[in-house]
Amino acid sequence: MSLDDASTTEIRHFAETVLLSDDLDLKLRRCRTPFVDTAPGVAVRIEVPGRPAHLPFAPRRTAPGMPGAEALREPQKRAIAHHIMANHELQACEVMAFVLLAFPDAPSAFREGLARIIDDEQRHTRMHAERAAALGQPFGSLPVNCYIWKQTTSYQSVLDYLAGLPLTFENANLDHTIEFEAAFLAAGDERGAAVMRRIHEDEIEHVRFGLEWLRKLKGAGQSDWEAFAGHLHWPMRPAKAKGDTFHRGPRVEAGMDSDFLDRLEHAPFE
Ligand SMILES: [Fe+2]
Ligand SMILES: [Fe+2]
Repeated sequence: MSLDDASTTEIRHFAETVLLSDDLDLKLRRCRTPFVDTAPGVAVRIEVPGRPAHLPFAPRRTAPGMPGAEALREPQKRAIAHHIMANHELQACEVMAFVLLAFPDAPSAFREGLARIIDDEQRHTRMHAERAAALGQPFGSLPVNCYIWKQTTSYQSVLDYLAGLPLTFENANLDHTIEFEAAFLAAGDERGAAVMRRIHEDEIEHVRFGLEWLRKLKGAGQSDWEAFAGHLHWPMRPAKAKGDTFHRGPRVEAGMDSDFLDRLEHAPFE
């Protein structure tokens, strides 16, 4: 077990706290000292994250589905949307912590970058939880699913993770955040819209991080697209990496080239 001193935080210790603690405040506690990776430890694959008693993963199909754009005019439906998205963000924290524990031999620069992104995901979780609570649905007051978490079983390498989370879920969120920002603005909910805008801006950086590490780790002679598509495991597939409306601008900002963008834009949904 690694130790933190007053001036640094060991990445493994941080990942263990985020993933294994059943105290939500601890899972979401911001790390205020620089990360160090001097004791990455042995590889462990955690099957179920630690969660507080009021936030377990619910049985399949028992968590509420995402309300449609029109329904979001109602505050109660926006509360449900924020509650669902808080659980998405919490799962992002947990999946990233899983990767830190499962792949201790990954380059330290990757591990440090990922730890810093968890800091963003913790903040996103808190922002959605605050909006859900303000609209009448405190975090943990509804059942939540494990859709994002359960993909971890297919992550046998860092490349699998990069294809599966930053380049699929976070990539799709570049579109979803714009859709929700517009829906919240249409409802006159400026605070909810501001949350979506902030997350959108962070997500561009998270996708960029995923793409940059895909380029560093992919096989010699592979294109970005070949590495991405080749490391996706069903039911993940390229079409899962976009929303209903494909936004090219944020993906250009994240560093995707025109070949990758064209293939993603035209990836079939079936
Ligand atoms: Fe996030
Ligand atoms: Fe993210």
